[in-house]
Amino acid sequence: MTVESVVYVNECGLPLNAIEWLETHHRCKAPEREQMIRDLNLKKGSFVVDAGCGPGLWTPLLASAIGSRGRILGVDIATEALITAQRRNKNKWYRWQVQYKLAPLEQLPIRQGKADVIFSANVSQYLPDPAATFAAMAPYLKRGGRLVIKDVDFGTMHFSTIDPGLQARVFEARERWEQERIRQGYAFEDSWVGSKLAGYLQAAGYEEVQEKRYPIVRDYQLSDDYRFYLQGIADWFVCEGAPYLSARDATNWLQCFHDEHYNVLDQKTFLSEETEFVVSGVWNASASS
Ligand SMILES: C[S@@+](CC[C@H](N)C(=O)[O-])C[C@H]1O[C@@H](n2cnc3c(N)ncnc32)[C@H](O)[C@@H]1O
Repeated sequence: MTVESVVYVNECGLPLNAIEWLETHHRCKAPEREQMIRDLNLKKGSFVVDAGCGPGLWTPLLASAIGSRGRILGVDIATEALITAQRRNKNKWYRWQVQYKLAPLEQLPIRQGKADVIFSANVSQYLPDPAATFAAMAPYLKRGGRLVIKDVDFGTMHFSTIDPGLQARVFEARERWEQERIRQGYAFEDSWVGSKLAGYLQAAGYEEVQEKRYPIVRDYQLSDDYRFYLQGIADWFVCEGAPYLSARDATNWLQCFHDEHYNVLDQKTFLSEETEFVVSGVWNASASS
């Protein structure tokens, strides 16, 4: 059992050793992510800011949606993420339409009132005050422009072949630790953010707020990518010492995902379910108001 090989995620959600995990995560949810972008019905020729773009995994999907007259600006606070994004997309057909810049979400490197859409995936979980950040992004949108936030919610996660009591204890321990860990010097993280997003957009002053839920269900036999993704998630639930979980539960939990002989991922009745959230809101005020 590889209990030692834990994937730790830094305060930006992207240490270099997690890029592989982010890529796998993206690949193994590709059908749902393609559907998410299709459902946005982005207009051809739009200017889209990918806020917290990370290693640029969404760029191809966004580029296909907005076509050859559109423009994408990827923004992130992690230099290594931007370099990876640049490298990944440098030979693609859309390369002249894409730029990557170092900046925080609250201070986008564009003039106010310019973006048709600000898209941000898997970033809101790291925002200590999401409503304040979403409000700070609003002036960069054109009047009638859209903010689109996509994120996870681990309250929706379920594994069919794991003792429900063990799952509940692991999830509760992590949720409790997430509320506490900031006081212990760790950066903020809310992996239960998905279902709260609509409220945050409303609080930030967006109108016509819409929430779409994307169930992600996989069963036996898992692809290698999905297996790697779930093992990373399992490790993450008990990282940082899992202070609210007993050592016995932590060991049993890891054993479920890593054991050579008794591994839930190899059971024919295995089923993994989680729901991801895409929430959008329209900004109807003009840049100067
Ligand atoms: C989990 S990664 C997601 C990357 C990408 N959006 C994706 O879905 O693959 C989170 C990214 O958000 C960036 N990030 C976190 N807080 C940020 C902030 N306040 N401003 C800009 N980027 C931020 C991190 O550096 C990291 O690259």
